[in-house]
Parts: sequence; structure tokens; C-alpha cells
Amino acid sequence: MGLGLFWKSLVLHRWIARKCGMRVSFSPEETRPVYKMEHEEIVPTHFDLHDPYDYCRGRALELAREEIGNLPGNVAEVGVGFGHFARLINYCFPDRKLFLYDTFGGFDKRDVDFDLGKDFVKGAFRDGFLSQAARKTTRKEDFPDPAVIQEKCPHPERLVFRKGYFPETAAPDGEEKFSFVSLDTDLYQPIYAGLEFFYPRLHEGGVIFVHDYNNWAWTGVKHAVHDIEKVLGPFKKMPLPDAYGTLVIMK
Ligand SMILES: C[S@@+](CC[C@H](N)C(=O)[O-])C[C@H]1O[C@@H](n2cnc3c(N)ncnc32)[C@H](O)[C@@H]1O
Repeated sequence: MGLGLFWKSLVLHRWIARKCGMRVSFSPEETRPVYKMEHEEIVPTHFDLHDPYDYCRGRALELAREEIGNLPGNVAEVGVGFGHFARLINYCFPDRKLFLYDTFGGFDKRDVDFDLGKDFVKGAFRDGFLSQAARKTTRKEDFPDPAVIQEKCPHPERLVFRKGYFPETAAPDGEEKFSFVSLDTDLYQPIYAGLEFFYPRLHEGGVIFVHDYNNWAWTGVKHAVHDIEKVLGPFKKMPLPDAYGTLVIMK
């Protein structure tokens, strides 16, 4: 059967089914995205708002990796948490150094106070932030451990941990260039500092993901992006419809 005839019969079949009140469903195979899915063991094949692995963001990274191709440069994440996304970055860029910046001890009081002072944090998250800022209520095991992150990454020899307050930890490899960076610190100051540090060090064609840009609760992220644009000039921006409103910046 020719391709044209195939499509016509498919459309006709669905139209008749709809007219007859039948539910038109697609098989799991049909609903699969057309591009190959490499990392099914760490990224789900469905969209789930509450899944930290986040289908849309994960797939967007895989596709961005295709566009980045052979562009030189390291990769990095600021705001590593328990390493969910770092693990995927490490899968996608097996030959590149992956710089991981985090306090590995939760949010810094300076950043929390700044966002609270500006009323950037909304809803129930305000209270979560206040207890984080006090820290005294938080147990050590609630914080990520670099050794555990190392264990779950497929190419641990590529990881370079930068433990401490960002941007204070950003200087040691100041001259290095990057092709992919994930900024996921939730708060205004480290997002601003992250763009200030990495955008000039991004190769042309490189990509930055800014998590929470369109998150209604962490509004400091969007303010930070817009404020640093006033200094560096407007970015090429493409927002994603993922769980927490990631922004993609391409240079
Ligand atoms: C939402 S979590 C990151 C989640 C992670 N990217 C993932 O995919 O699972 C935010 C992280 O940012 C880190 N962070 C926030 N502000 C920071 C700063 N100024 N310096 C270093 N780390 C920071 C926190 O310690 C926390 O681990």
C-alpha cells in the first residue's frame, strides 16, 4: 500500500470510529515519540508531573544533545540535589567532564532570605523555605551525598564535584568552555550568578536549561533571567512544557 493510501485509510478509520462513538485509542507503540529513546531505565516513557525524572525535560536533553553534536566543551549542573538530572547528563555526554556545583547541604540562608525578602516564593513553599533556612530541623540524611551520586552515574570518572556556595565555587576552572549547562537552584541569586558565569563561557550552539522558569512557586528564577538579560543582552529563549517550566537558552 502506498503511503498516501495508508494515511487516507488511517484517517478514515478514525473518523468512522469517532462518528460511531467509539473511543479512538492509540497503542503504546503509536504514541511513542518518533525519535529513539535511549535512557528508558532512567527517564519514564510517559509524562508524570510528580516524577522527578520528568519525561519532557529528559527527552529535551536527549534531543538537545543531538543538536550539540560534536561541539566542544564540558557540561555542568548547578543545583544537583540527589543527582536525578545529573545522572542523565552523564549518560548523554559520556566523554565530557561534568562539573557538579552544589552546597550538598541545602539552600544557603543568604539566597533564601533574598527571595523571601522580595516575596519571590509563593504558597506553601514559603514555609518549606523558612524551615530550610533555619536548617536546624533538617536531618543530615535529607541532604544529597556526592558519593551516592557518583555511584549511580554511569561514567563517574567524568564527574568533578564543586561542593560549596555557588558562585564562590565557580572560579577554579574559570577559563573552561561549556556546551551544555543545567541551572536548577530554584532561587534568584544562584540562577543570576549561574547565567552570569556560564553564558559567556558557552560555545556558540551551546544550550542552557534553566529549571523552574515558569514555576508559579519559585518566581525568583524568572526575575533572575530577565535581570541578567539587561546586562548580557537578550537570550534566545524557548520555554518547555515540562513539569516545572524549564527554559531553554541557546547561544
Ligand atoms: C531542586 S534541587 C536540584 C534538583 C536536581 N537538579 C535534580 O534534577 O534532581 C536544588 C539544589 O540547589 C542547591 N543550591 C541552591 N542554591 C545553591 C547555591 N547558591 N550554591 C550551591 N548549591 C545551591 C541546593 O543545595 C539543592 O540541592
